[in-house]
Amino acid sequence: MAIQAIIGGQWGDEGKGKIVDLLSKNANIVARYQGGANAGHTIYKAGQKIVLHQIPAGAIRKQCLCVLGRGMVIDPIGILEEINLLEKHNINVDNRLFIDNYAHIVTPIHKLIDKTNEIKSGNEIGTTCKGIGPTYTDKYERIGIRAIDLLSPEILDNKIQTRLDIAIKKDEINSSDLNQLKVDLKIYYDCIQKMKIYIKDTFPLFHDNIQSNILIEGAQGTMLDIDFGTFPYVTSSNCSSGGIATGLGIPGNKIQYILGIFKAYTTRVGGGPFPTELFDEDGKKMAKIGHEFGATTGRSRRCGWFDLLVAKYSVQLNGFTNIALTKLDILDSFETIKVCIGYEINGKKINNISEVLNNLDHVSPIYKEFEGWQCNIESISSFDALPDNAKLYIKFLSDFLQVPITIISIGPKRNQIIFN
Ligand code: IMP
Repeated sequence: MAIQAIIGGQWGDEGKGKIVDLLSKNANIVARYQGGANAGHTIYKAGQKIVLHQIPAGAIRKQCLCVLGRGMVIDPIGILEEINLLEKHNINVDNRLFIDNYAHIVTPIHKLIDKTNEIKSGNEIGTTCKGIGPTYTDKYERIGIRAIDLLSPEILDNKIQTRLDIAIKKDEINSSDLNQLKVDLKIYYDCIQKMKIYIKDTFPLFHDNIQSNILIEGAQGTMLDIDFGTFPYVTSSNCSSGGIATGLGIPGNKIQYILGIFKAYTTRVGGGPFPTELFDEDGKKMAKIGHEFGATTGRSRRCGWFDLLVAKYSVQLNGFTNIALTKLDILDSFETIKVCIGYEINGKKINNISEVLNNLDHVSPIYKEFEGWQCNIESISSFDALPDNAKLYIKFLSDFLQVPITIISIGPKRNQIIFN
């Protein structure tokens, strides 16, 4: 059995969907271990764009079982929308989509609380308003609703009514939203009826299928990890590889390959520190050429240069065995490309981001400059055929991180990929 994990090395949106799609070709199971509908994984099937939020991107390979693991928070309304979307593309997931019976479930109440909190705080965190934080809060408060509860109408009614009473009593939602909430709850109950058939104990799928090739699909990115990210500007789960053990029940020593996905530059959505962020023409150019708009919320992404301190931390934390560098083609027209190789704060040089994780807003990046390659690389098919300046850039990143860059993505299409 080979188990491989794919994890975002930066702040999410590194282009994991395409890589999962490619590598799921040889997988029997593709599984997600954390997060929920806050993710947006974009894949292309026969030239058509499909964006999945909860169902693993491997779903478009018909041989793959798709597991939504115990560490996720699952939104039934969103699941039904995705199943319908896949049906429109002639992809059926019956008998191969499995939602872990102990995964926690998002309700319209959680989504409303998320939205209300965001409004109250003036969008401080800039969450996706998908109910992620409030659902994980209920999990840790030990009052959450789990998938298994959906199988028993009485338990479910009771839990939902109790949660609504708490939300009203604690002023977590505004009374003016109650009418719409009732409408949403009705849709929610309809979706639950249809989603029930996918609920299953997924633990044996991993431990009894010793012949399986399992691909583990991370969501968001390492710097959004609740424990190791830029707290409080993070999501509410462990996106780093540590989350796999608790989110799927697969211990770390069973995973052979951990592939880190890095964009050839950096982006971030929502609030929080971002040392290499660009506010100039280069930043605008990256956003425009890279179509840097969120797949889940449509918000524009903040853009900046590649940050090797982020990447080094990510390599150490996740134990990356190899790296995929995505969207290299977006840098095609840049005359100069910069890479952050250190920070400076109060005249002191910083080589490890962990020293300043709580103070990232105040660091100044130290850059190394590279000459751009200034030509179109989107149809190149081997590492050797890349322009010398692009090779130098890739080699520098790989040498600094001491991890091989084995996959280079040079466009959105399946064939725009270089294996190195
Ligand atoms: P939440 O996960 O909706 O609670 O949002 C918390 C923070 O994580 C916000 O800054 C979001 O923009 C960010 N975030 C959540 N999911 C993603 C993602 O898939 N890609 C990039 N950023 C994300």
